[in-house]
Amino acid sequence: CGIVGIVGTQPVAGRLVDALKRLEYRGYDSAGVATLENGLMDRRRAEGKLFNLEKILSEQPLPGTLGIAHTRWATHGVPNETNAHPHFVEGVAVVHNGIIENFSELRDELTAEGAVFTTQTDTEVVAHLLAGFRREGMDHKAAMLAMLNRVRGAYALVVMFADDADHLYAGRFGPPLAIGHGRGEMFLGSDAIALSPFTNKITYLVDGDCAIINHRSAEIMDYTGRPVKRASQISQASAFLVDKGNHRHFMEKEIYEQPEVISHALSHYVDLGAHTIKQTGHDIDFAKLRGLAISACGTAYLAGLIGKYWFERYARLPVEIDVASEFRYREMPLSTDQAAFFISQSGETADTLASLRYCKEAGLKIGAIVNVRESTIAREADAMFPILAGPEIGVASTKAFTCQLAVLASLAIEAGKARGHIDAAQEKTMVRHLAELPRIMSAVANLIQPQIENLSRELSKFKDVLYLGRGTSFPLALEGALKLKEISYIHAEGYAAGELKHGPIALIDENMPVIVIAPHDRFFEKTVSNMQEVAARGGRIIFITDENGAAASKLETMATIILPNVDEILSPMVFSLPIQLLAYHTAVFMGTDVDQPRNLAKSVTVE
Ligand code: G6P
Repeated sequence: CGIVGIVGTQPVAGRLVDALKRLEYRGYDSAGVATLENGLMDRRRAEGKLFNLEKILSEQPLPGTLGIAHTRWATHGVPNETNAHPHFVEGVAVVHNGIIENFSELRDELTAEGAVFTTQTDTEVVAHLLAGFRREGMDHKAAMLAMLNRVRGAYALVVMFADDADHLYAGRFGPPLAIGHGRGEMFLGSDAIALSPFTNKITYLVDGDCAIINHRSAEIMDYTGRPVKRASQISQASAFLVDKGNHRHFMEKEIYEQPEVISHALSHYVDLGAHTIKQTGHDIDFAKLRGLAISACGTAYLAGLIGKYWFERYARLPVEIDVASEFRYREMPLSTDQAAFFISQSGETADTLASLRYCKEAGLKIGAIVNVRESTIAREADAMFPILAGPEIGVASTKAFTCQLAVLASLAIEAGKARGHIDAAQEKTMVRHLAELPRIMSAVANLIQPQIENLSRELSKFKDVLYLGRGTSFPLALEGALKLKEISYIHAEGYAAGELKHGPIALIDENMPVIVIAPHDRFFEKTVSNMQEVAARGGRIIFITDENGAAASKLETMATIILPNVDEILSPMVFSLPIQLLAYHTAVFMGTDVDQPRNLAKSVTVE
């Protein structure tokens, strides 16, 4: 999931591992490093976390000033040492992110030619292909180009040859890969964060690029070998290793950072003094749109689902929304009087990117709501809407989600205004509410923390949990369930409150707590009736509501979490806090790896 390469003047092994640490946030389950010294390649690999690799390296150091390193998130083959990268075949070393889709076809072909495969990975075919082309007499560059013309799928690849002490070779199609320009040293990395201790001068490769780097320069070409020009840029990625401050986990830090980063996000889109929407200079003409298509994955998708309620209600703009992995294949009829919005924290999620390209091809105007401004999705969009959440390290998204919501809310108001459904007075009122959000969130986080911590101890004893909500609280119920299962591994499901009686009600008993998210809004009474259905069947209820809601409901609950009354447009962000903190503290009680939950990756660059 993370790649680093260094053409250095000093030993590289330690620096490679340090750079991998900066990519840890992407999630991984094994790691490895390989270097070249006097024509000999050697490697150290380890299952699990980077300290396992560091331990092996301290016992058996690796010399050499040329090297490559990798953190792997298993796609083909279990996460053991054998399957960990770099893969070696006859003087060729390869690290790879992504999936080689035609690997089994290539493996059969190579096996028939006598190749012996020693791993279960798709990556090994790359090393065999290269070794074969070298045996046929091709030089390094020709072998690299021939290989890139044979593999199909999504990949970022970095290659080192034992008989070439001066160069590293790279290819990109899909997952990101960047060149870092140092002084007398050159680097390759999955992102600018990994390379930031070395350099901030970065060149991003684009799909279909092959690059060869030496100590001083980079040669970039297409797969036919024709040179291409890619501009370098000064990255804004911080050179400081993002740290946890005084928090136990990045996730906790990121939850508490929300008031601050939401204020950054809001101040980009609204005038917090005049209480008006700011013109951000994008060229999406909301007034003329017939519809909006939104797609995204995971938590970003759920932010989009809340956005749908807002765009439809406040701007009367019909929204089609789907998870990107479905959207890209469902052949939705598209027309150029629609715009397409893509929401992605990383800006690199493969399915989201594919959906973007699909809509771009259909001639739609593309908007991207992203956190990483230098990401592929950001760069390929017509209009880029930054969420300004700062680096999000915890794999389970928290602050990116609420910043995505803040941006979507601002855009929905902007669209409502442009389409004549929100007048100047309404705009002022809505923006004034948004402006109160950072303060309210900060107060709420401190207010509910002790109660949630106690409640989490209880919740950690259960095996199944159901979340219910109606209106914008329905996507929040889905997000609550997603957060809980992601980090505590407790089975959880989110349902629209009205769907309870169409299925999940059959599961209700005292062993499955039901978390009901219900601010005192237009739907409150209806959700309370659904709660009654739960209570009547002996179900235990954890009721997340506001002061008015608590006063209006007489039901007996296992716990009632009472938030202040807030305006309707704020409730998805404010009600995110209890569901995030509940998942977080439950996971802490369970003793799981909160920031890097098993099997999950921060940025999924494979289909
Ligand atoms: C992964 C992460 C989620 C995230 C999703 C979409 O599954 O674990 O937290 O919501 O990818 O990622 P994106 O970067 O596109 O928002």
